[in-house]
Amino acid sequence: MRASLILLAAFAAASESFYDSNKNIYELNPKTFKEVVYNTNYTSVVEFYAPWCGYCKQIKTVYNTLGKFLHGESKYAVNVAAVNCDEDFNKQLCAEHKIESFPTIMVYRPPKHQVGKPRKGKHVPEKYNAQRELGPLVEYLTSRIKNYVKKFFSIHSEAFSNWLNSSDGLHKVVVLTKSNMISPLLRTLAIDFLDSVSFAAVAVNDITGPTTITFNNEEVEIPVKENDSYPILLVYDAESNLFSRFKEKSLTKLALLEKFIHSKTGAVPSEGRLSAKGKKLAKYRGAAKVHDEL
Ligand SMILES: *[C@@H]1O[C@H](CO)[C@@H](O)[C@H](O)[C@H]1NC(C)=O
Ligand SMILES: *[C@@H]1O[C@H](CO)[C@@H](O)[C@H](O)[C@H]1NC(C)=O
Ligand SMILES: *[C@@H]1O[C@H](CO)[C@@H](O)[C@H](O)[C@H]1NC(C)=O
Repeated sequence: MRASLILLAAFAAASESFYDSNKNIYELNPKTFKEVVYNTNYTSVVEFYAPWCGYCKQIKTVYNTLGKFLHGESKYAVNVAAVNCDEDFNKQLCAEHKIESFPTIMVYRPPKHQVGKPRKGKHVPEKYNAQRELGPLVEYLTSRIKNYVKKFFSIHSEAFSNWLNSSDGLHKVVVLTKSNMISPLLRTLAIDFLDSVSFAAVAVNDITGPTTITFNNEEVEIPVKENDSYPILLVYDAESNLFSRFKEKSLTKLALLEKFIHSKTGAVPSEGRLSAKGKKLAKYRGAAKVHDEL
């Protein structure tokens, strides 16, 4: 009797936090907060909550779905996390972040990283005050992903040639696109390969059929054809002066894109689910499956 009571009590205590067994959400403590939120170029969203609070219970479903959407497939460079402010070990953390009501949703944007330079600057906290629903949350969070993708207006521009030719030691990936926006997926790729691959997005209104650019006195073929559907991702190989094209019809699967870039350049992502860091961080999420690492 006594043993089962103790067991019951232990069970009740362990199940208190909302997201303990959720493989898509980090249930944080002061130590993992540092690693997950600050030690990254990803943007993080953190829900500070108390298990007894009614509004917290209400948004649980939305938050679970958010975790699944952003993290389930490692879609974008956003960490979805939560802090149970009712836990004694989190009291100071919640006070430091000036949490006065539950739930409080905070977004932490990393400082801009200068490629090849040591880390500088602090994360900027922002309070999320818009609707606590999936659509608005996803829209806001993906808009807060840092952008490291350079934008060019034509593949025939001097600026583009200079970028392609720059001797910065980085591999070059080009995305031809009809959109003026740099998609969250592309920004995520650039973050995962920070310090090893440089990304460019080029507007393609001027491509109508098979095309070449002149580069270092050579005609270089851009592997696109008439009526192709965009966006198109190309990896440039400086040694052979050739572009190779990602063959899938649409650019939606981050892991496939990263494997392709890795296979063409040998570059290894430093963040995200295929990185050593991603594998380590996955252990901080409940019941997480450990993914392959490149
Ligand atoms: C951002 O990424 C670079 C390259 O991987 C790394 O050196 C740097 O420490 C990262 N910044 C943070 C805040 O983790
Ligand atoms: C590329 O760089 C090389 C040497 O760094 C230079 O000789 C060449 O003119 C450059 N080409 C372009 C297209 O900028
Ligand atoms: C491209 O589209 C145009 C207009 O729809 C069509 O006339 C043309 O035959 C297409 N070209 C190819 C190579 O499919």
